Amino acid sequence: MEQKALIIGEETVRRYLSVEDVIDICEKTWRWYGEGNVVMPNKITTDMSTLGVGGWFNSMPAYVKPLHTAGIKLVGGYDANKALGLPYIKANVILTDPETGILKAVVSGDYINDMRTGAQPAIMVKMLASSTDTVCFIGTGLMAYCSLLCMSKTVDIKEVRLCDISDEAKDRFIARFPDAPWRFVKCASNEEGCRGADVIITVTNANADLVEEPWVKEGGLVMTMGSFRETSFDVVRKADKIAVDQVGQSLHRGNVKELAEMGEITADSFDIIIPDVLAGKAEARTNPKDRIYAQIIGTGMIDVACAGVVLQKVLASGEELCKVDMTK
Ligand SMILES: NC(=O)c1ccc[n+]([C@@H]2O[C@H](COP(=O)([O-])OP(=O)(O)OC[C@H]3O[C@@H](n4cnc5c(N)ncnc54)[C@H](O)[C@@H]3O)[C@@H](O)[C@H]2O)c1
Repeated sequence: MEQKALIIGEETVRRYLSVEDVIDICEKTWRWYGEGNVVMPNKITTDMSTLGVGGWFNSMPAYVKPLHTAGIKLVGGYDANKALGLPYIKANVILTDPETGILKAVVSGDYINDMRTGAQPAIMVKMLASSTDTVCFIGTGLMAYCSLLCMSKTVDIKEVRLCDISDEAKDRFIARFPDAPWRFVKCASNEEGCRGADVIITVTNANADLVEEPWVKEGGLVMTMGSFRETSFDVVRKADKIAVDQVGQSLHRGNVKELAEMGEITADSFDIIIPDVLAGKAEARTNPKDRIYAQIIGTGMIDVACAGVVLQKVLASGEELCKVDMTK
């Protein structure tokens, strides 16, 4: 029996997957998960630093039934990459036949990882914000860029406030939006950026209290996307509602991890579970005055779904790509 696997590189992925496609796949995959049509165990981290390699990677498997796609995202951070001129984060997706396990494709996961990360706040902000006039970013790196790019497709924004420990990062960020329809404001402090903002998004590699609770206005939305703590505990404690993209992994990573370890946050603390809302099982924002805190942890099912769609499109197009015969 033929066992041919495709190798799908970064440039091909970008040709077959627009930003709008990724937003659409992200929203659908969340909905399918909420409907019970995705199998997704929690991610596992392999930290190689304990044995002298400067790196770690996460294994993030999923089966997405409506796409009949099974696979695993492998994404990690590698210290050696900076000296090589590569981004710190590197991602690949491996797809196998759900019925036989035969390798179907190895798909470059970098663009998928970046855009699906940006698609998440772009969808959640529609469901959770009472207004999106003023958006404050704390952290203006690559994921912040992808987030604003995707948000520009889903909501109207009048002012984007930028906070970062690096002024250069803020300038680079602004330069990436030459035709921005909103006004950019470079803020001298996080407090200046946060006070009065409708939406506050933290997307840094810091482990610090970047947002204080008194800075969050009535009706405000705070979304944290970084891997560690990014707000004071009170931003979470005193929020009227807490939203997450997935329950299990939200307790072990990101901003609420420490509160979960102290027993203050449990699976029952999450008022709004985004996949359940999209599946019609729960409501998102119900009161414009609520202060909502949301953690976006990021899940592998979206990357597997995006890679699966790329594979389907490549096969439908008939384009000849590099194929490996796995029987040889
Ligand atoms: N939630 C998800 O789905 C998801 C997906 C991918 C990456 N991430 C996480 O997003 C975060 C950002 O990733 P990135 O690729 O954009 O990194 P990046 O290095 O491109 O950008 C990070 C930015 O944060 C700034 N920063 C660092 N400490 C700061 C502080 N104390 N105050 C203000 N700004 C500060 C840096 O100067 C930099 O500009 C990381 O924690 C990463 O692990 C999350």
